Amino acid sequence: MKAIILAAGKGTRLRPLTYTTAKHLLPVANKPIIFFVIDQIARAGIWDIGLVVSPENIDLIKAAVGDGSRWGVRITYIIQEQPKGLAHAVSVAKSFLGADKFLMFLGDNLIEGGVAPLVEKFERGAAAAMVLLKEVADPRQFGVAILDERGNLKQLIEKPKEPPTNLAVVGVYMFSHKVHDAIAKIKPSFRGELEITDAIQELLSAGEEVQAKVLEGWWLDTGKKDDILEANRVVLDEYATRAIHGEVSEDSKITGRVEVAKTAKVIRSVIRGPAVIGEGAVVEDCFIGPFTAVGPRSVLKNVIIEHSVLVENCILTDVGRVEDSLIGRNAKVTKVADGRDSLRLLIGDDSEVQV
Ligand code: G1P
Repeated sequence: MKAIILAAGKGTRLRPLTYTTAKHLLPVANKPIIFFVIDQIARAGIWDIGLVVSPENIDLIKAAVGDGSRWGVRITYIIQEQPKGLAHAVSVAKSFLGADKFLMFLGDNLIEGGVAPLVEKFERGAAAAMVLLKEVADPRQFGVAILDERGNLKQLIEKPKEPPTNLAVVGVYMFSHKVHDAIAKIKPSFRGELEITDAIQELLSAGEEVQAKVLEGWWLDTGKKDDILEANRVVLDEYATRAIHGEVSEDSKITGRVEVAKTAKVIRSVIRGPAVIGEGAVVEDCFIGPFTAVGPRSVLKNVIIEHSVLVENCILTDVGRVEDSLIGRNAKVTKVADGRDSLRLLIGDDSEVQV
């Protein structure tokens, strides 16, 4: 069994951060999302992984992920020249995949408990495909499934305006080689993409067995700011441990599951977990509340912050209370020094400020 990770998307909903990085490299709990994906695949015993990237992001992703040896896997980079859809990405990876069964993982998705039991089941069986489904509040932005009374998959529709059910298709799929013929038969959708949903529907219509499993645990799809914050919350909630390696002054107070990296400093501050403070970060006269990830080399002075992600090398001083925020690399948020009640902004294209 092989795996492909799809990481060629442009991440337009995460601009301006994705002008300078790939969305799959944005951190949750101070670790790039795609690292969690590779972890989950490696834990399922798959070591031969094709990583589908774009001509624009290949260098960034290669620099972060390397050859996979860190996870004991082999990564082969595959370039998708244009973002023409998930099924198109599979066709680009066809020579890598050969006739093998494979797991396809969208590089910004994560599911609770990983994929090992599902991979094992699919590998043993004879189904042409397996999809995972999850009940969501607003299915219009996803592929949507209709099941029959016995829970068998009847139909899949991509981004329906009026969803017939609230069962969304999760970005983790399994296929046999039969999907390649199905992809050869489909046409681009209303958004001009070759949809994997349509290829699976093609398999169903041809009478092939397509299994569907409704997930009980969480599913994270990190395409937007709030999704990253939610992923950060869930991952910290689930995986953060108490590990204080850095320097913490005696008049600081750290409660709960908080990780302070070796070269980080915490001075006269209160940190309430789950939270992580990255390498080289300095936290001084602050309150850091739950579900906050302070990226490496960030400097925070006299701020109250919670439920936020600071990517790396961020500076925050004297700005009162910060919540629900995603702050990019090298960004500075400081108080106007002359005491005037005004905002002074130098923010990138497509940024968003709420005061
Ligand atoms: C894609 C699929 C959709 C699926 C979703 C999961 O959507 O087309 O069926 O539900 O991933 O993340 P996209 O992210 O391309 O909008």
